[in-house]
Amino acid sequence: MLRILTIRLQIAPKPHLMAMKKDQPLFCGNIEPQERTFKSTASTPSFHTRILPTIKHDHQELVYHSQKIFTSTNPDEQTRYQNQFTWELARHLIGEELVVYPAIIASLSDGQEAADRNRMEHQGIKEKLKIFQDLASTDPRFVPTLRGLMDDFGIHARHEEDVELPRLESMLSKDESVEMTKSLDRTKVFVPSRSHPHSPVKPPFESVAGLITAPIDSVADLFRKWPDGKKG
Ligand SMILES: [Fe+2]
Ligand SMILES: [Fe+2]
Repeated sequence: MLRILTIRLQIAPKPHLMAMKKDQPLFCGNIEPQERTFKSTASTPSFHTRILPTIKHDHQELVYHSQKIFTSTNPDEQTRYQNQFTWELARHLIGEELVVYPAIIASLSDGQEAADRNRMEHQGIKEKLKIFQDLASTDPRFVPTLRGLMDDFGIHARHEEDVELPRLESMLSKDESVEMTKSLDRTKVFVPSRSHPHSPVKPPFESVAGLITAPIDSVADLFRKWPDGKKG
């Protein structure tokens, strides 16, 4: 039986519970899935589907939002989508690190190597996101920085979708896979919504750093511009 990360949250996550436990269920927690305030028309919401389509959905949304930035000539609109893109990508990366990569380590023979390589790729993406999130949309580096980020992200995402996640899915029952999606949604509640590339990248330290930075990000999010009709 595959054993994956267990996350329990009462007031704060308990780091020792982030480690693999032999006799605990794959996933459990008492935080409701975060309300998805961003609803793009790029794809359908992924609540409670298997983990592979859930991750693909996240990737598609990120591509969709980057395209909105590339095709817009309106700096205000670009800023709004820049904030949305940042919000989604930062949470996606850490959500994978806390929920999906531990499952890859636990279930694949070369899982540790795969997770290490993915974390390294995430680090490069986070560093580019950190630069991008702080740029004004009128800055000449704005679009080129996003292009470079999306080039890296595209390679990384394709590998996840074509290689690692199908292998992971083959080791999971449907219920386990759906539970992983739920856990990913719960985890995104407490992770930072901006890139902090110098935070620790491995659990449980990632989650502790996330608890410190996430509320700061959330408050700052209140003062950012968002696409009309969405978060704001
Ligand atoms: Fe990833
Ligand atoms: Fe991903």
